[in-house]
Amino acid sequence: MAEFLTANDKRTSYCAELSAKNIGERVCVMGWAQKQRDLGSLIFIDLRDRTGIVQLAFDEKTEQSIFDKAFTVRAEFVLCAKGVVRQRGEGAINKNLPTGEVEIAVDEFKILSASQTPPFEIVENSNVNAELRLKHRYLDLRRPDMQRNIIARSKISKIARDYYAENGFVDIETPNLCKPTPEGARDYLVPSRVHKGKFYALPQSPQLYKQLLMVSGFDRYFQIARCFRDEDLRADRQPEFTQIDTEMSFVTADDVMKIHEGFLKRVMKEYMNIDLTEDFIRMPYREAMERFGSDKPDIRFGYELTDLSDVVKNCGFKVFSGAVECGGSVRAINVKGGAKFSRKEIDSLVEFVKSYRAKGLAWLKWAESGDISSSYAKFLTEEENEAIKSAMSAEAGDLILIVADKNKVVFDSLGALRCECAKRMNILDPFDFKFLWVTEFPLLEYSEEDGRFYAMHHPFTSPMDEDLQYIDSDPGRVRAKAYDIVLNGTELGGGSVRIHDGAIQSKMFEVLGLSEAEAQEKFGYLLDAFKYGVPPHGGLAFGFDRLVTLLLGLEDIRDVIAFPKVQNASELMTKCPSEPDSGALAELGIAVVAGEQ
Ligand code: AMO
Ligand code: AMP
Repeated sequence: MAEFLTANDKRTSYCAELSAKNIGERVCVMGWAQKQRDLGSLIFIDLRDRTGIVQLAFDEKTEQSIFDKAFTVRAEFVLCAKGVVRQRGEGAINKNLPTGEVEIAVDEFKILSASQTPPFEIVENSNVNAELRLKHRYLDLRRPDMQRNIIARSKISKIARDYYAENGFVDIETPNLCKPTPEGARDYLVPSRVHKGKFYALPQSPQLYKQLLMVSGFDRYFQIARCFRDEDLRADRQPEFTQIDTEMSFVTADDVMKIHEGFLKRVMKEYMNIDLTEDFIRMPYREAMERFGSDKPDIRFGYELTDLSDVVKNCGFKVFSGAVECGGSVRAINVKGGAKFSRKEIDSLVEFVKSYRAKGLAWLKWAESGDISSSYAKFLTEEENEAIKSAMSAEAGDLILIVADKNKVVFDSLGALRCECAKRMNILDPFDFKFLWVTEFPLLEYSEEDGRFYAMHHPFTSPMDEDLQYIDSDPGRVRAKAYDIVLNGTELGGGSVRIHDGAIQSKMFEVLGLSEAEAQEKFGYLLDAFKYGVPPHGGLAFGFDRLVTLLLGLEDIRDVIAFPKVQNASELMTKCPSEPDSGALAELGIAVVAGEQ
């Protein structure tokens, strides 16, 4: 039988707040039993709340009915205990606990709720499988590490709210039932009951609303916004996630980057106690690709790409010279110390690049002993081999990895490979925070499959003034006023200065193959709004879940989301998505033609 709290049962302290300085005080604590130890004439219960653990003591001086009740307590029972804080006995002091010097001599005691044996123990760093954890997420969230993560998230969100409010940003909520906003993923659709056959989309981001708020004159907008994208999930992606979303009027790209850099510095200082005094590096997209093979480079380590095309373009090895001839390139990285990789490990790197569509990986391993083994050296002359070594500044202990292919494949595969090698070399410190801005992104991306251009960011991103002249003759060459903020190889956020000129916006739609009628149908409200005086504006959105994940040194964004979804976009605890009852579907005028296979 559960007992109830009365008006006198007021908690005086959280468990872990108690220490030697409280000795002699009468306190009231509440929480969950971590464990009960019955030593015959003595019973100890470790009581846990979100702050930590304190020991409850029951002994021969304890009233019999209380002692008997303590005897029945099992793990995860919910308790209310009152008593006097006292020094633990000699030898009972636990140096591992902040409260380890004291205990509460309990003289009033309630069992507020009993508990079945939980499916897993509520402890830190549990190695229980993810499925079981997510199925009982309410218990998983009781574990101290998960509590810390979720509380950290709340603190970081408070820092964001404070920072942006102090800088004049107005917190404005935008709708969740809306018209599709183009961010490149599939929309989640919500059927309308009133307008049968019509659907709302859940926002992929508040993009168009925030631009409209600039037209409305709010000048600086801020929202911690929920976004929905029906895309394939990975460790850093969820179908619904949170952005710290902003937009500003009368600004250039530099202004937008500065204000958001200020936020990151503030978080690092307030939350991590790390002073980042220097300006973040700003690296043009082109340079990021050439040096790191990635538009989100991890700059904590080297292994930078070297272009060997000139060195090998005339060699007899067709894999190399052929790639250059076809307009591709031959590039390589030097994994310093990588000669310690076994042949088997190198073979697995060859397999690794294949998932990035590389046809192969040529390698040269220069062991500390001086021995050289290589997959390609035999196809080249001695001079050519020496030229490669010299271009790569190779020395004993190194592993040279070369990809020859179309540029996109070369960059994708070497970009990923350098990170994979760094991981395997164990040289990545998650608490070494290296932020950088990647700027001057291409405005458009050409899809060979579809034979057309797509907006690299979204269709409202402004071209760079000096490149506008190429928009008709060479659209691929036009760079955008777009910027991403990158931390340790992860894209934390992105944004741009927007087009605020009707003629340029129409041109952009034209390049994207959108007729005037289509543009009007999709974004007419924005184009109309732009007829009434629109300030130059730009903004940015941080992936809030990613930011928290990286600050906490974690890898999986599910660890900072209270109720995340799994890979196939379902939620294991509530078992959604689920079938609606047939009445609901009929009311919506919807019939399901094909269910789950
Ligand atoms: P973008 O699409 O780059 O820009 O999104 C901004 C940031 O949101 C995070 N993010 C995600 N996080 C978790 N799960 C996902 N599925 C997911 N998708 C994106 C990333 C990303 O950098 N409206 C523009 C911003 C702007 O132009 O102002 C936008 O949404 O960290
Ligand atoms: P092959 O002549 O195809 O046996 O290839 C000889 C070596 O070149 C092997 O180590 C292959 O892995 C490597 N190789 C093949 N294709 C490529 C490529 N596109 N880029 C780099 N190395 C390659």
